[in-house]
Amino acid sequence: MGKAYLKVASVYFAIGVLAGLTMGIIHDFRFTSVHAHVNLLGWVSMALFGLIYHFYPNAANSKLAKTQFWLHNIGVPVMLGGIALQVLGVSAALPPTIIGSLAVVW
Ligand code: HEM
Ligand code: HEM
Repeated sequence: MGKAYLKVASVYFAIGVLAGLTMGIIHDFRFTSVHAHVNLLGWVSMALFGLIYHFYPNAANSKLAKTQFWLHNIGVPVMLGGIALQVLGVSAALPPTIIGSLAVVW
């Protein structure tokens, strides 16, 4: 569980910094919120979960931990994809954004 979180976190880190770099280079800051949360929910939060489960392995061996892993890993892309679509003007993306956010918070 710890390793899985760290692997996924490193993918989000790559996406997050590349997005930040691109925003900075092309001077288009519409996606700042997506960039911020890719880094904070994807990279920082998942790296922290991974380290916590590494140091407290018993906590990883629960159904709750597994459920939260999947809710987080489904919720984050749904939430962030939803925000990105709304930035592009797709207002119908609001309900999935809310559902994704609720999955993350659960
Ligand atoms: C080389 C890597 C990165 C680059 C080039 C970059 C670039 C940027 C840019 C251009 C903005 C928009 C600034 C603005 O709207 O005025 C921004 C905002 C932000 N970035 Fe990054 N970023 C990087 C890495 C990170 C990382 C690793 C994190 C979090 C761990 C992060 C968190 C944020 C946050 C929270 C904001 C919003 C700040 C605000 O609302 O004032 N960034 N970043
Ligand atoms: C499901 C979880 C979360 C939801 C629904 C959420 C929601 C939001 C919303 C609605 C904003 C305002 C965006 C805007 O003004 O454009 C925001 C901004 C921000 N959030 Fe979150 N957030 C979540 C998790 C987090 C976490 C875990 C962190 C830090 C570890 C964080 C850090 C920030 C920061 C730094 C900003 C300001 C940067 C920006 O303008 O995007 N958020 N968040």
